[in-house]
Amino acid sequence: MSAVRIDGKAAAAELLAITSHEVGKLKADGIVPSLTVILVGDDPASDVYVRNKVQRAQEVGILSIEHRLPANTSQEHLLALIEALNGDASVHGILVQLPLPRHISEQAVIQSLDPLKDVDGFHSHNVGSLAQGLPSFVPCTPAGCLQLLQGVVAELSGKHAVIVGRSNIVGKPMAALLLKADCTVTILHSRSRNVAALCRLADIVVVAAGRPKLVTSDWIKPGAVVIDVGINRVRDLDRARLVGDVDYDDVATVAAALTPVPGGVGPMTIANLMANTVLAARQQSQLKR
Ligand code: GUN
Repeated sequence: MSAVRIDGKAAAAELLAITSHEVGKLKADGIVPSLTVILVGDDPASDVYVRNKVQRAQEVGILSIEHRLPANTSQEHLLALIEALNGDASVHGILVQLPLPRHISEQAVIQSLDPLKDVDGFHSHNVGSLAQGLPSFVPCTPAGCLQLLQGVVAELSGKHAVIVGRSNIVGKPMAALLLKADCTVTILHSRSRNVAALCRLADIVVVAAGRPKLVTSDWIKPGAVVIDVGINRVRDLDRARLVGDVDYDDVATVAAALTPVPGGVGPMTIANLMANTVLAARQQSQLKR
């Protein structure tokens, strides 16, 4: 058996087209949706992510502003910038690229964001709303994973989903979303025991562990759907290459459907960031009326 290759690029293009249409409607109402992206330091991976986000924003007509700050920026300086952006009515979305340099508290920075501008959905206000099943900004990567799953799984209700990884950015919000979709949810993490055997119980597997090719075919029940969130840079025959947390060729022999890396979850993360920014702009314009 060979698995269906889930095309994240095509799904993202659809979401971006809808988002671009929504941007047009906002502009017709005199609102230019805007996203401010803050990058502290010079982590090369973050640099690529931020460039991609800014470029995609421009493509859909969102005004995007970049603040690139040196690695030795103080926490006070960063918090002051966020406070100014919170108070600037022309800024609808604020994204602080993670990770931050070690001398800055990620929690303090995330909690300083106006929850209405928190297009990443990381502020405790949004995290709490999502956990309670209330409307909130949904973190972009798990939102994209859910959309890809909805494209290939006819009925999520009652399915057993196993999530590998418990990060605040992916694992935990993914669990909340799948629970909201009436899945039975198991979270595995670095201290879990019998991970392969537990994973083999799953109808749906979402892997966000940050470990290249961690998941192999012996972890997967025949016919399961597998979503690979991993983006690992590895050197292969002296060339830099991206690989996921799933051994694609091996898992494709047993899974029903599987996302590739690159071209799977990655494009959906950015498309959802654009969608969240449009939502932020729409909500803020309605609040002002
Ligand atoms: N670093 C890795 N993923 C993300 C993300 O989704 N948002 C932000 N802000 N930083 C990240």
